[in-house]
Amino acid sequence: MKQKVKGEETLLKIENFIEKQEPIKANDKTYEKIIFIYSVAIKELLTKLEILKDEFKIFYDYDIIDHIQTRIKKPESIIKKMQDKGYELTYQMMIENINDIAGIRVICPLKKDIFSVRNLVEKLPGIRLLKEKDYVTNPKKSGYSSYHLIVEVPVTLSQRIIYVKVEIQIRTMAMDFWASLEHKMKYKAKGTITKKTSKELIEYAKIITKLDNKMMLLNKEV
Ligand code: GTP
Ligand code: MG
Repeated sequence: MKQKVKGEETLLKIENFIEKQEPIKANDKTYEKIIFIYSVAIKELLTKLEILKDEFKIFYDYDIIDHIQTRIKKPESIIKKMQDKGYELTYQMMIENINDIAGIRVICPLKKDIFSVRNLVEKLPGIRLLKEKDYVTNPKKSGYSSYHLIVEVPVTLSQRIIYVKVEIQIRTMAMDFWASLEHKMKYKAKGTITKKTSKELIEYAKIITKLDNKMMLLNKEV
């Protein structure tokens, strides 16, 4: 990992959250400031990804990205996740441990595009790659498939540059179709779907993987 240079800070340094051990209050000014910084990080990264998308279209007549979605995790979800993991509900713990407060989802047409996008993200100037998980090569037990990156994005404010973590999920349209429906079903069933349902979902995930592979071959032919 690259060394931080003078004038660059992590989000934790702002307002000295560490010293204060300030508890999270979803409506206070501190929360507003933190979420503002995360939203700037999303904007910055979204712009960079949209430029890549347009560049491939205009220069190479190729759709490397179909579309991009972004979201900021809701305070209830952040707090629930922290409680589930047993973290003290302070801003320090939130910033240090919750890596998906800012999320970007990149939906690609073909499986090979996922790896291309991953490599392009790694090369983006200023962006630091912290963690990655390749659930495309190795899908999760649930059947879930996507490429996950945790990156740090520099947010330039008037007095300082702050590095902020963003989770990027890269997947195909077919993987997105599966993951969206599976998520909805699990949510509706409050996380307790039957053995039969989960077996079927795994089976359909395998069909999706086959479909993605076949689509890639077909695309090569034409
Ligand atoms: P957490 O964010 O605490 O789960 O950390 P982690 O490092 O274990 O994350 P992981 O890489 O397993 O997954 C992070 C995100 O991927 C989740 O918030 C979901 O958006 C997505 N995800 C992971 N597993 C599944 C799954 O089985 N089904 C669906 N639909 N989405 C999943
Ligand atoms: Mg998550």
